[in-house]
Amino acid sequence: MATAHQPPVVAEDEAVAGAVDTAAAAVDTAALESAFDAAVAADERIEPRDWMPDAYRATLVRQIAQHAHSEIIGMQPEANWITRAPSLRRKAILMAKVQDEAGHGLYLYSAAETLGTSRDELLDKLHAGRQKYSSIFNYPTLTWADVGAIGWLVDGAAITNQVPLCRCSYGPYARAMVRICKEESFHQRQGYELLLALSRGTPEQHEMAQDAVNRWWWPSLMMFGPPDAESSHSEQSMTWKIKRHSNDELRQRFVDICVPQAESLGLTLPDPDLKWNEERGQHDFGAIDWSEFWSVLKGNGPCNEQRLTQRRRAHEEGAWVREAAAAYAAKHSDHDKDRRPATPGTHGEATA
Ligand SMILES: [Fe+2]
Ligand SMILES: [Fe+2]
Repeated sequence: MATAHQPPVVAEDEAVAGAVDTAAAAVDTAALESAFDAAVAADERIEPRDWMPDAYRATLVRQIAQHAHSEIIGMQPEANWITRAPSLRRKAILMAKVQDEAGHGLYLYSAAETLGTSRDELLDKLHAGRQKYSSIFNYPTLTWADVGAIGWLVDGAAITNQVPLCRCSYGPYARAMVRICKEESFHQRQGYELLLALSRGTPEQHEMAQDAVNRWWWPSLMMFGPPDAESSHSEQSMTWKIKRHSNDELRQRFVDICVPQAESLGLTLPDPDLKWNEERGQHDFGAIDWSEFWSVLKGNGPCNEQRLTQRRRAHEEGAWVREAAAAYAAKHSDHDKDRRPATPGTHGEATA
């Protein structure tokens, strides 16, 4: 916790003793820091009770929060199609997928709680617009084919980003990612299969699939974040082994995976500059319009306002469920309290 590292308040007559303590604490911190660095260098996992630098904790909270928010905001564009899915089979698959995303949010908020930040606090920041979620979810889902394009490209990009996070240095985050990646893999396949069915369908269906891919391709490439040269957090995150690959490396990997898949789908990726580079053994691709990325990130995407408004409303409408769950837990804790040892007082009175 950040407060553990704040200097203690000392009375004047204790100042000398305090100075000695401070010096000792500095030596201790240096020792703790080198133990932490050695553990990271040796690919050992950092666990919640281990000492960690404040900046490492803050970086993880920021990244995990943004990831958790993306999972739950990401439910909206696709949930939009549940009532209009073209068959019972498609509806069941889509419902399962959207539910998975809620589960991913829960695993991730729980991982953030192990760092001392509550889910309530993170949700408050999301609702106040003080924390971000992935900009990709600020684009609209205009047709049924968008459900396929999201599964194939957006979940596909998420997997490319997240598989290396299974080896992240922070234990709870890494373990959450193992399960999330397995489920994302199902999401990617359902999107691919949906697009394949449309691509092989009527000319209108094929055109609908192509149109969805045209709209989702470039925003998917932006999901990997700004180019390495402009990415402010990348280098430190790589040193801490939170990140294992740079934004540009992961983006390139994703492009190379998608090109043959697009061919199998019978669909075209909307980039005239996309071609195999024999020398590099990778695909070259066209310039990304980063002005669009920054504009959407700043809140000017087609759906930013709609997504946050709907999220806040869902939170308010769910208040009675949270209250009922808390009342139920309190009732059971009253019922059991005679059988448990006395617990220390809460902080409630101090802030009242
Ligand atoms: Fe997810
Ligand atoms: Fe997903």
